[in-house]
Amino acid sequence: MTATTSPAGSDPPWHAAWLPDAVLRPPGRRRVRLLVGPADGTDDPVLSTLRDEVARATDLHGGAVVDDERAHLTLALASEARVLPALRTAAGRALDLARRPGLDGELGRQGFVVDRDDDALVVVAATPTGLLAGWHHVLRRGEHAFDEASGLVEHVPAVAVRKLDHWDNVAADSPMGPVERGYAGASLWFADGRVRDDLTRVRAYARLLAHVGVNAVCVNNVNVHERESALLTTGLDEVARLAAVFRAQGVRTYLAVDFAAPITSGALTTSDPLDDEVRAWWERAVAAVYATVPDFGGFVVKADSEGRPGPFAYGRTHADGANLLARALAPYGGTVFWRAFVYDHRQDWRDRSTDRARAAYDHFTPLDGAFDANVVVQVKLGPIDFQVREPVSPLLAAMPRTRLAMELQVTQEYTGQQQHACYLAPLWREALDFRPWGPLDPARPGRTVADVLRGTDALPGALTAVSNVGDDPFWTGHPLAQANLYAYGRLAWDPTLDPSALLDEWLALTFPDADDRVRATVHALLDDSWHVYESYTAPLGVGFMVKPGHHYGPDVDGYEYSPWGTYHFADRDGIGVDRTRATGTGFTGQYPAPWRDVYESLETCPDELLLFFHHVPYAHVLRSGSTVVQHVYDTHVAGARAAERMRERWRTVHGLVPEDLFHRVASRLDEQVRSAAEWRDQVNTYFLRKSGVPDRLDRVIP
Ligand code: GCU
Repeated sequence: MTATTSPAGSDPPWHAAWLPDAVLRPPGRRRVRLLVGPADGTDDPVLSTLRDEVARATDLHGGAVVDDERAHLTLALASEARVLPALRTAAGRALDLARRPGLDGELGRQGFVVDRDDDALVVVAATPTGLLAGWHHVLRRGEHAFDEASGLVEHVPAVAVRKLDHWDNVAADSPMGPVERGYAGASLWFADGRVRDDLTRVRAYARLLAHVGVNAVCVNNVNVHERESALLTTGLDEVARLAAVFRAQGVRTYLAVDFAAPITSGALTTSDPLDDEVRAWWERAVAAVYATVPDFGGFVVKADSEGRPGPFAYGRTHADGANLLARALAPYGGTVFWRAFVYDHRQDWRDRSTDRARAAYDHFTPLDGAFDANVVVQVKLGPIDFQVREPVSPLLAAMPRTRLAMELQVTQEYTGQQQHACYLAPLWREALDFRPWGPLDPARPGRTVADVLRGTDALPGALTAVSNVGDDPFWTGHPLAQANLYAYGRLAWDPTLDPSALLDEWLALTFPDADDRVRATVHALLDDSWHVYESYTAPLGVGFMVKPGHHYGPDVDGYEYSPWGTYHFADRDGIGVDRTRATGTGFTGQYPAPWRDVYESLETCPDELLLFFHHVPYAHVLRSGSTVVQHVYDTHVAGARAAERMRERWRTVHGLVPEDLFHRVASRLDEQVRSAAEWRDQVNTYFLRKSGVPDRLDRVIP
């Protein structure tokens, strides 16, 4: 792992992540031809980026930029390539992709075509961003890109908008710190209450995002406070500086906005979505945004959620609220991402009839069909809140007339806070593969969540995630958490990619010149790390046994008597939340068949979600033959032991990776081992004391 080399040749003080200079070697040592139109500097910023990329690669590695057909690699816009016989087929195909009707054409414009012209590699796209994606494809394939004998192959993303939400705060003294739920230092772009003067680091970040295919970034926290609210008004010039950096990599900029902005940032006394002055206020605000940032993406909104203002205050619906903003954005092509994370966070824990898991569905399904065409309803992966194990949110299957995005959490709030190594791609892939209507329904033959997110011509969907980066030299605090950011982007481009193969990809890019043992070791360490984390923390779908507030470390009853609606109901006899229709909260009924019945029945409910859906006695026998309480004891012991093995594995690469990297990972693994033991002991002691059931293996439980 080497640091990036800046054009001037000096190493910047941050890690190169998946784009060290060595990755530029395969194309960089060859003759590269660029057919992209005039090179007078007045053209598209993405083309300038591409030119710089090619120049830097060939400068560093001894190749050359050529303008004749002796090139080993030709990168061409279809408009330039179609007149050349050797490139005509590929150019025709790239144009066909882009001209397809509806959503297919949109995806085609973002994609590219790879072909061979004798022994030369040819990459053609209809647009600059498509071509830049093609360049990154070549980097990712490395020497293989030049060895492969295959002919023409089309590459198009599965989902049109692949967004990252940054929960970054502008205010220097923000109560949640510079980045809410950030575990990698301060914000990459805000410092001292404003956008940083030096955006070099942001440029490097935008390049990393372009490599993995992310094409949208929301730059501020969904909890929009006073200083952050001003980004929309007096802060627009600052936003424009960030947008220029992202634009050069084909990434559009979004802002999280406060629904009460007409009051907090304007001079109005209401933010009622049906009020004419409120409407006019938003129209003026949006006009000013587009005058400053012409390709602005749109808004992300957290309304009536955890204390944030919203339309409920005026007796209006979330469709009224979202459409207000959507109509202001529509003339400019902007989109509103409206979050469905709406629930009662002031619940009385004594009230067993209210179930937080039900909330998003109950609030939003009555509004299906009522949202404007430029509103996307943003739904968290699970019905509660980014836990280590949850069922997929039933809302994703319940709004056929609404554009939908699934929201993932790359930042590891509930999955070890980037102290623990926890590779999340397998979790996300399970959710993307989930078939809400089951595999057998002939009316909807095996549609997956990924299909829902792709959407249709009329209702294109999206994928979005909370970012895990900060100004930490390794970007993500735990260097191995870079794999999560990498995998998120790649899965958003192609949700059928195998998480294990993605690890190989990321490792090959990140450690290009390292001893094979490094890649094998890191792969083995991360491969099953999500299950390891699950095994020493949350058993069988129980969540929120974390310390309240910061959410790190065990506290089995931490949220049990709180207003947040996240309970496990453990008593001396059993544990779990009864969410059945028969005797519980009825949440199972929010799923279509077959899942409404699969989850309802103790016979068919998957063990890993048992306690999410059912309250069972400790002696309940799982499919493994073990009882619930014995399973808790066993998995917690095994999980903590597995964390120790992860640390032992890492120690074997000492000397094979840079020292600073080695020690950073080693110290995180020390903390993981310590924390896993704490989880094991607190959880096992808790259940021994509650249940009185001894461990069958008679291990020491404190
Ligand atoms: C979690 C998280 C909050 C965040 C919220 C959200 O509850 O702890 O910090 O604001 O999710 O997604 O809005």
